[in-house]
Amino acid sequence: ESIQTPLNFSLFVILQRHGEPPLIKGWIPYVGKALEFGRDAHKFLEEHKKKSGDIFTVEMAGKYMTFIMDPLMYPSIIKHGRQLDFREFTSRVAPITFDYPPVTDSKFPGLGEQIVRSFQLLQGDCLTPLTDSMMGNLMLLFRQDHLGAGPAKEGIWRSANMFDFCHSVIFEASFLTLYGRPPSAHRHSSMGVVRKDFIKFDTMFPLLIAEIPIWLLGRTKAIRQKLINYFLPHKMVCWSNTSWFIRRRSELFEQYDVLRDIDKAAHHFAILWAAVGNTAPAAFWAMYHLVSHPEALKLVRQEVHDVLRLGQVEFSSDRDVTLSREQLDKLLYLESSISESLRLSSASVNIRVAQEDFSLRLNAKRSVAIRKGDIVALYPQSMHLDPEIYEEPQTFRVDRFVQDGQQKTDFYKDGQKLRYYLMPFGSGSTMCPGRYFAINEIKQFLCLLLLYFDLELEEGQPRATVDLSRGGLGVLLPATDVRFRYRLRK
Ligand code: HEM
Repeated sequence: ESIQTPLNFSLFVILQRHGEPPLIKGWIPYVGKALEFGRDAHKFLEEHKKKSGDIFTVEMAGKYMTFIMDPLMYPSIIKHGRQLDFREFTSRVAPITFDYPPVTDSKFPGLGEQIVRSFQLLQGDCLTPLTDSMMGNLMLLFRQDHLGAGPAKEGIWRSANMFDFCHSVIFEASFLTLYGRPPSAHRHSSMGVVRKDFIKFDTMFPLLIAEIPIWLLGRTKAIRQKLINYFLPHKMVCWSNTSWFIRRRSELFEQYDVLRDIDKAAHHFAILWAAVGNTAPAAFWAMYHLVSHPEALKLVRQEVHDVLRLGQVEFSSDRDVTLSREQLDKLLYLESSISESLRLSSASVNIRVAQEDFSLRLNAKRSVAIRKGDIVALYPQSMHLDPEIYEEPQTFRVDRFVQDGQQKTDFYKDGQKLRYYLMPFGSGSTMCPGRYFAINEIKQFLCLLLLYFDLELEEGQPRATVDLSRGGLGVLLPATDVRFRYRLRK
C-alpha cells in the first residue's frame, strides 16, 4: 500500500506500508529532513503531527526515525527496553565525539557494564558528600570572585553577562567537585583557558553528534586534544579531593592495559561535557526566569531564608552558607522554578534503536510495525509545551510544580493522568545518572545568588529566547546573552 501526496510547497511524499507509520522523506536523498529538524525541531514535529497524526516516520540523515508524539504512549516505549535499546546509539556516537575506542569492543570485556555501575556513585548515599563538596566549592568561588573586597563590599552595582556568569561558576565548581583540585592550590590556574576551549568544542558539539567528520571542523580536533590532555592520568593522580565517582572510574580504566592514557583521559573529558553541557544552561534559565520575575524571586528567597532558619541558622554574609542535602530537599518553590525552567528550555530527543523487527504496541487499540535498526524517538519538548497539559505553556510560573505544600505530580492529557510529564533527563534505564546532583548544584548556586545579592536585569533588552540550533541535544542555550546587575544585599 503506497500513497503519494504532494504536500504544500515542499517536495516530499508520504509513503506508508502496511502497519507502518506514514513516512516523511526529504527530497535530498540521505540528508532527508535532518536540516529542517535541526533548524527548529519543535516546529518541524508539530507540523508533521498536524499532517500525519501522533505517529510518523522521518528519514533523517539516512536513518529512519519513528516519532511517537502522544505522551500517553510514552510508557509503552519506555518499558520496551529489550527491543528498543538506547545504549546502542550512545555507544556508537559518543566514542566518535569524544575520541575514545568503543567500550563494547571485545578488547574491553566488562568495561561497559562497569562504567554503568560507576553511575551509582552519583546517587544514593554518595550524593551527600558530592553535594557537600559542591557547596564548599561554590562558596570558595563566590568568596574569591564575587564577594571579595572592593565595590561588592560597599553594595555598589556590578554588571555582567548572565550566561557567562552561570557558565563560569558552574563549570569551575563542577570541575573541582568531580575531579578535585591541583596540588597545593584551591583552584586550577588554567581553568579560564580550559573553559574557553570547552565552549569552542561545545559549539561544534551538534555537528560532531551528527557525525560530521572532525577534520571538516577547523581547529576542533586540536582543541579537543588539548581538553583531553588535561585529564591524562599522570596529572590526575596529583589532584586531591577527587569525587568517588571519578576515582572509581580512574581505577577501572587502570584495569585495562589496552586502554591508552589518552583514551582514559578522553573518558574523563566526556564526563566533564555530560556534567556541564546541560547544567550550565539549566542554571542560566532558572536564574533568568527568577530575575525577570521579581515576585517569584522574592518568594524563593523567602523560602531559602525559612529553610535556613529551620536549621537554627540565620543567614549572615560573614559566615559561609551550608545547605545540607535534606535542606535542599525542602526547597519546594526553588525546585519548582528549576523544573519550570527545564520544561521551557530542555529539548532532548530520546532515542531507542530497534533490535529486531517487531510490532510495537502503543495502547489498547494501536500498534505499529518497527524494523530492526530503525530508531524510535520521543521528543518531550512537544509534551512540555502542550497547552492541554500546561496551561499557557510559554509562561514561566514559579508554582507550576507545587500543590498543597507538596510537589505537584498530576498532569493530564485527554483526561488521563500522565505517567511522564517532565523529561529533561531522558527516560527508562538510561535516564541521566547525574540528575539528582544536577538539581542540587543548581539549587545551591541559586541559593547563594539569592542570599547574597540583589539582582536585576538591565533595561532595554528584549526577552531572552532559546537558540534552536541544538534542538534534540539537551538544554537549549540562549540566542544571545543577557546583561544583569548584582550588588551585595544589605
Ligand atoms: C540539568 C542538567 C542535566 C541534564 C538536563 C541532563 C540530561 C541528560 C540526558 C537527557 C541524558 C540522556 C539520557 C537518555 O536519553 O535516556 C543524560 C545522560 C547522562 N548524564 Fe546527564 N544531564 C544533566 C546533568 C548531568 C550531570 C551533572 C552529570 C554528571 C555529573 C550527568 C551525567 C550524565 C551521564 C554520565 C549520562 C550518560 C548515561 C548513560 O550512558 O547511560 N548529567 N543526561
